[in-house]
Amino acid sequence: MTAFSTSPGTRDILAPDSERWRAFQNVFAEVALASGYRYIIPPMFEDLGVFLRLGEATDVVTKEMYDFEDKGGRRIALRPEQTASVCRAFVEHRPVTPWKVWYAGPNFRYEKPQQGRYRQFDQVGVEVLGVDDPHLDAEVIALADEFYRRLGLRKVELAINSLGDAGDRQRYADALQAYFTAHKASLSAESQTTLAKNPLRVLDSKRKEDQSVIAGAPKIEEFLSPAASEHFAEVKRSLTGLGVSFTVNERLVRGLDYYRRTTFEFVSTALTAAHTAIGGGGRYDGLVEELGGPATPGIGFALGLDRTLLACDAEGVFPAPNGDVSVFVVDTTGGSHATRLCRVLRGAGISADRAFDGRSMKAQMKAADRSGAKIALIVGTNEVESGSIVMRSLSSGEQTTIAHGDAVSAVTQLLANQGS
Ligand code: HAM
Repeated sequence: MTAFSTSPGTRDILAPDSERWRAFQNVFAEVALASGYRYIIPPMFEDLGVFLRLGEATDVVTKEMYDFEDKGGRRIALRPEQTASVCRAFVEHRPVTPWKVWYAGPNFRYEKPQQGRYRQFDQVGVEVLGVDDPHLDAEVIALADEFYRRLGLRKVELAINSLGDAGDRQRYADALQAYFTAHKASLSAESQTTLAKNPLRVLDSKRKEDQSVIAGAPKIEEFLSPAASEHFAEVKRSLTGLGVSFTVNERLVRGLDYYRRTTFEFVSTALTAAHTAIGGGGRYDGLVEELGGPATPGIGFALGLDRTLLACDAEGVFPAPNGDVSVFVVDTTGGSHATRLCRVLRGAGISADRAFDGRSMKAQMKAADRSGAKIALIVGTNEVESGSIVMRSLSSGEQTTIAHGDAVSAVTQLLANQGS
C-alpha cells in the first residue's frame, strides 16, 4: 500500500500548534472587533481574473498561481491572498461604506518551500473600503501594531512608504526604467530580467551586486504629487501622535502591483532568515475600479500567521494554550460509570476524558497521567457498591473519597484550590 505524505510546502498542523493557531486568530478577532471590523469569509478559489489584478508582472501572478480549468471549463485559481477577493465581494454586494472587514485563513502560492515560506500559508488581515482619510491609514497600521503587542512581540519594526497616486507611480516607474537601463550592465542577471517586467521590483533586490546601483536610484519622494505628499505627511503625523514608531523606507515597493500611496511592512528582527517580513499592506485605491466597481479607495494589511508564530518562538512569547482536559475518569468496572460521569462533568463545563476497551487499572492510571489532567476520578467495584468515587489529585497524589452525586462540586472545588 502507498503511504502518502503532505505535498511540498504544506503541512499538518497538529496539537498543540493547531490550538495556538486558533488562539492567534481569536486574539486577532478581538482586536479587529474592538475597532469595528466585521468578519468576512471569502471563497478559497475564484475566477482567475480576480487575481490577475494583482499585477501581470508580479511573481504571485506569473509564477506562483495555483490556477486550473474546472470541470465546467472555468479558469479558476486558489486565492494567493484575500485583498482582491474582498474587493470583488465589495463590487458584488455593494455594502454601505466605510466597509470594514477582517479575515483569517489559508492562501496558496507556488513558491519554493523553506522555513517560513509555504505553498499553503495562513494570514489574518483587515480591509477598509470607501475611505480616503490618512487618519484611517494610521488606524489600520496601529491595529496591526496593537495585535503584535497583544501577542507579546517586541522585536517588530515598521517601515512605511508612499508610492504616490497612479500617475506618480507611473512617472517614477519610467524614471527608474531609464536609470536602471543606463546601469544595466552593473545589475545582476536576475535584476535585468526583473527590469524588463517591472522596474520598481528591482529596488527590492537583496543581491549584493545590485546594491550600489539601487543606492543611486531616483527616490519616490521626488515624484509624489502635492496631494499624495500631504496624505503621507498626515499619515506620519498621525502615527507619531498614536505613539507608533516607524521608519520611512523609500525602497519599500511590496510584491503586488495594486498599491497606491501608503505602503507598509512589518519585519521581525528576532528572525534571521529570508522570511523576516511578518506582515504588510497599504492603499490600493484603484483596485475596486479595476474589478468593475465604482472608484473606491481601499486600504488594508495581511499578517502571515506562520511567520508571526516563528517570530513568537524566537521571542519566547505567545505559547500554545493548554489543551489538556481537567479530569480523567478511571473505571475498572466495565466503563459505563465513566460514560455517565464524563457526561455529567462535561455538561457542567468541566473537560473530561477517559479510557476505553476495558483496560487495566494500571493502564488507565497511566493514560490519566499522560492526558495532563489535574484530577483522576476512580470508580472500582467497592466504589460502585458504596455509591462513591475516589478523587485523586494527579499532581500531589492525595486522594479522598466523595459521594457519587458530589462529583461536580468536589472537582470544581479541588480545581479552584489548585488554581486552575
Ligand atoms: P503579502 O506581503 O504578499 O501581502 O503577504 C502578507 C504576509 O503574508 C507576508 O508579510 C508574509 O508574512 C505572509 N506570507 C506571504 N507569502 C507567504 C508564504 N509563501 N509563506 C508564508 N507566509 C507568507 C498580501 O498578501 C496583501 N494581500 C496584503 C494587503 C492587504 N495589502 C492590502 N491589504
